[in-house]
Amino acid sequence: MFPQLSAAALLFLVALLAPAIASQRTVSPSHPPSNDPFDSQACASCHADIYKSYTTTAMATASGPATDGLTTGELDHKDSKIHYRVYEQDGKVWMSYERPGKDGLHGQRELLYFIGSGKKGRTYLFSDQGFLFEAPINWYSQEKRWNMTPAYTEASEMPLNLPAYVDCLNCHTSGMRPPVPGTDSKFSGKPFSHGGITCQRCHGSDTNHADGKGAVVNPAKLSPDRRDAICMECHFEGTVAVEQPAKHLYQFQPGDRLSDYIHYFVLNGNREQAPRAISQYEALSQSTCKRQSGDKMWCGSCHDAHREPAPEERVAYYRAKCLACHGEAFAAKHHADKPDCTHCHMPALPSKDVAHTQTTDHRIQRYPNDAPLPQLQLRGKPLTSFPAVDESLATTRDFALAWETLAQRGLEGAPQAAEDYLSKAVKERPDDAVLLAAEGFVEQAHKRDNDARDFYEHALKIDPLLNDAATDLGIIEARSGNLQRAVDLWRGAFQRVPNRSAVGMDLAIIFCIAGKKDVAQQFVNRVLEFNPDYGKAKSLLEHIAQDPPQCKP
Ligand code: HEC
Ligand code: HEC
Ligand code: HEC
Ligand code: HEC
Ligand code: HEC
Ligand code: HEC
Ligand code: HEC
Repeated sequence: MFPQLSAAALLFLVALLAPAIASQRTVSPSHPPSNDPFDSQACASCHADIYKSYTTTAMATASGPATDGLTTGELDHKDSKIHYRVYEQDGKVWMSYERPGKDGLHGQRELLYFIGSGKKGRTYLFSDQGFLFEAPINWYSQEKRWNMTPAYTEASEMPLNLPAYVDCLNCHTSGMRPPVPGTDSKFSGKPFSHGGITCQRCHGSDTNHADGKGAVVNPAKLSPDRRDAICMECHFEGTVAVEQPAKHLYQFQPGDRLSDYIHYFVLNGNREQAPRAISQYEALSQSTCKRQSGDKMWCGSCHDAHREPAPEERVAYYRAKCLACHGEAFAAKHHADKPDCTHCHMPALPSKDVAHTQTTDHRIQRYPNDAPLPQLQLRGKPLTSFPAVDESLATTRDFALAWETLAQRGLEGAPQAAEDYLSKAVKERPDDAVLLAAEGFVEQAHKRDNDARDFYEHALKIDPLLNDAATDLGIIEARSGNLQRAVDLWRGAFQRVPNRSAVGMDLAIIFCIAGKKDVAQQFVNRVLEFNPDYGKAKSLLEHIAQDPPQCKP
């Protein structure tokens, strides 16, 4: 609990919250400017056939305006007792939510964009004061119904504060603009210029090829690592990935080396901690086909990025790809009566990611369904670089941050590994804010508050927008009575990430304790703006209103 306040300490409380942030207009889709670097249309006139077939693919339609292909509907969610409705009105798409009765709640949000081609399902995004969020309900194509977003099927409270993270947009949209620094998902305008993956995501956007002469990237003509990087950017996540100092994955351009932006690691020999996603890239690398063929084999050996085979040509299409290496002679003696090679060697298995859907097994196994999924290669070391050729690039910093991430996921042994690497990494890079913040967290976990404070302060001097460092340091300061400092840190962070309810709650509690009821209420109300069904905030609001106020949820 926080200590009593002295009269002097009360002075700082005069500073009030900034007035309610002016609500930012949501952007309506406008026609792209003609010099738009991410417009597939720019290629249509000269590459008409490719353009035509490509625009129907899952990649080309991986996102877009919510009005496209919408199926309206309703959902009665048992656990939260909320009734959701998705409907169209005046050319706009709305999601309304309503819970009747004592714990009543109702409201609506305008759904702006969809993410996901809809083969399997769609997530919808809405914007609130410039912050972009995922709707709590998704469209599930195969079941043809709306249902809760996967992690919240049994949630009793409605999650309305799920940020639409940059990595999500980077894989599903084109012309993505970086979010406002320090925020999870605030955009000062349209978050991306084009729905879906446009030609330029694979062929480059910084070259002027419109005259048919300028440089353009042809993936097939790149060195294997740069070629593979183009698909890997979006078809691989690894167990952990560490962005390189001052680099972001979304800055990657076709032709670049992926390792200049991000280093990937996979966890070996630990079945329980299997990667979340069955990633085609990792799976393929485990296949005998790929291991024996080397660089000759890649995604393009079987897939034409510009088109998907029609259902009736599917079997012949993939068979021809297998036979390009295995030969007609082999096929003539091998299950000749069953032409679908993939039925036995690349079956569709239940997907770990998208509920009730299936994923093609890219491990191309001799005996299908042989081994548990996913089976990782054992190379002796628990965390290894991927692809293996990048092993020499892996840094102490990489391992420190990778183990730290695994520690946060609760992997046994990871905290110790993280600590060992972190102390080395901080010595190597004494002004790396991300490392300093991580080291602060370790010190704090060991209750060495003074050391933790030094690391956090140093980190925040270099990068004042590190929200986790700011909020964690705030806890140390509040505990040791430096309430002014705690409030400053929390308030800065809460302005950038008002979707993180805990920060606003801490602020409300500290102001309540200081006797500033009205300020405390403002903070709780701000929490509820973004997270209106948050039970703890609702009860804190009631408790603050009591006489005398009770400063806890
Ligand atoms: C004004 C006509 C024109 C426009 C517009 C155009 N291209 Fe081309 N493109 C060509 C011509 C001509 C070639 C050369 C064909 C050849 O060499 O066979 C070519 C070749 C290519 C190649 C192969 C390059 C290589 O080295 O193998 C790619 C990839 C390509 N274009 C992509 C694009 C993309 C992506 C766009 C849109 C951003 C685009 N083109 C717009 C005319 C155009
Ligand atoms: C910018 C991100 C991005 C890049 C680059 C990318 N993909 Fe994709 N790809 C996606 C997304 C997202 C989907 C899923 C789209 C959906 O269903 O919403 C997808 C889907 C696919 C599919 C499945 C199509 C289907 O029938 O469902 C194939 C095959 C594929 N990609 C191959 C490739 C290949 C090959 C490359 C490299 C040449 C590549 N992709 C590069 C993002 C990307
Ligand atoms: C690393 C790139 C990547 C990231 C990050 C990513 N996706 Fe995807 N997503 C894909 C690919 C590739 C597929 C296709 C996989 C398949 O068909 O098995 C896909 C499929 C989907 C689908 C199913 C589409 C369909 O109908 O087939 C939905 C919905 C989806 N993603 C939503 C999201 C959301 C929401 C996020 C962010 C929280 C996200 N994705 C993050 C690459 C990505
Ligand atoms: C997901 C990645 C991806 C996207 C998106 C993509 N391409 Fe390609 N493109 C490739 C790859 C890979 C190759 C090389 C194919 C090969 O030769 O194996 C290629 C080759 C080409 C070529 C030269 C060879 C040929 O097939 O004629 C042209 C021209 C081209 N693409 C145009 C386009 C246009 C136009 C678009 C958008 C309408 C587009 N591409 C979208 C990956 C992509
Ligand atoms: C780029 C060349 C290439 C392609 C394309 C290819 N393979 Fe292979 N595959 C190989 C090589 C090389 C081997 C190892 C030598 C052998 O068994 O012939 C192999 C081995 C295999 C094996 C034995 C696996 C084991 O663990 O013993 C199976 C099964 C297989 N391939 C199936 C397929 C199927 C099915 C396809 C098409 C979907 C396919 N391959 C496409 C090159 C390829
Ligand atoms: C040996 C052939 C082969 C290679 C190489 C290959 N794929 Fe596939 N892929 C397939 C087959 C077969 C399917 C299933 C297609 C279907 O069911 O219509 C598939 C399906 C997919 C899908 C659709 C989602 C799913 O799980 O069904 C994606 C995405 C995909 N592949 C991406 C990739 C990427 C990225 C690479 C390179 C890392 C790659 N593939 C390499 C054969 C291959
Ligand atoms: C009905 C299921 C089935 C179909 C269809 C099938 N396979 Fe197989 N394949 C198997 C089984 C089971 C084995 C392992 C036992 C064996 O070697 O016969 C195998 C083995 C293989 C091997 C390793 C053979 C060796 O001698 O090392 C290759 C390569 C292969 N298959 C490729 C293919 C290709 C290419 C196709 C399509 C032309 C195909 N398979 C179609 C079931 C199938």
